Amino acid sequence: MTGDAEALVRAVTQLSSVPLVPELRLHLLMPTSPLWRATPDEARLQGLELPYWAFAWPGGQALARWVLDHRESVHGQRVLDVGSGGAIEGLAAMTSGATQVVCADVDPVASVAAQLNATANGVRLETVTVDVLAREAASFDCDVVLVGDLTFDEALTVRLIPWLRAHRALGREVLVGDAGRVPLPIDLEVIDEHAAPFDGNPEGSVDWRVLVRRLR
Ligand SMILES: C[S@@+](CC[C@H](N)C(=O)[O-])C[C@H]1O[C@@H](n2cnc3c(N)ncnc32)[C@H](O)[C@@H]1O
Repeated sequence: MTGDAEALVRAVTQLSSVPLVPELRLHLLMPTSPLWRATPDEARLQGLELPYWAFAWPGGQALARWVLDHRESVHGQRVLDVGSGGAIEGLAAMTSGATQVVCADVDPVASVAAQLNATANGVRLETVTVDVLAREAASFDCDVVLVGDLTFDEALTVRLIPWLRAHRALGREVLVGDAGRVPLPIDLEVIDEHAAPFDGNPEGSVDWRVLVRRLR
């Protein structure tokens, strides 16, 4: 599975950077790829679920930018990257001096993409394939929780917020990169704002207002 997945990630992506986070290199889908705007059915015909891991999503880009600009927020800390995909925010944490970054994603191919991206940036990430919401917050060992562009769907967000509050109640810092797809509660205070390319387009075209939020 891992070998096949690795070949798949390499086949559909190019090692590239996004304008907001030029420090990091990721395996990214190019807009010229037929998969760029494929529907789920079209993707399945190619043997794929939609490759979320092949984009640096706007929320993840803004959060990675914030972490790289505020390295002290993760330096010496254990970080959980939730819904990590290609793990742009996890990579930002690891290159900023986190002692450990665990990337958690429900899609097993995301773990493979995150590992390839870790290698490309000369850092180590740990990966786990899990539906995070099926596990208690307390079952994760971490000091900082990074959430890049996971608030993209209302049903998912409604389940995610109490789970994040459970992390906060355990004393953990919770930081969210929010592309504004779903309204979020006021205890997720806005701490920064960026413009990021539409759905991770590595070729630019800055279109999205993206917020970095911290859970009070
Ligand atoms: C929009 S992508 C964001 C990826 C990355 N954080 C970024 O910003 O580039 C959302 C990711 O969350 C993952 N995901 C969705 N629901 C999840 C869940 N319940 N548990 C773990 N991962 C989940 C998806 O598989 C996908 O990789």
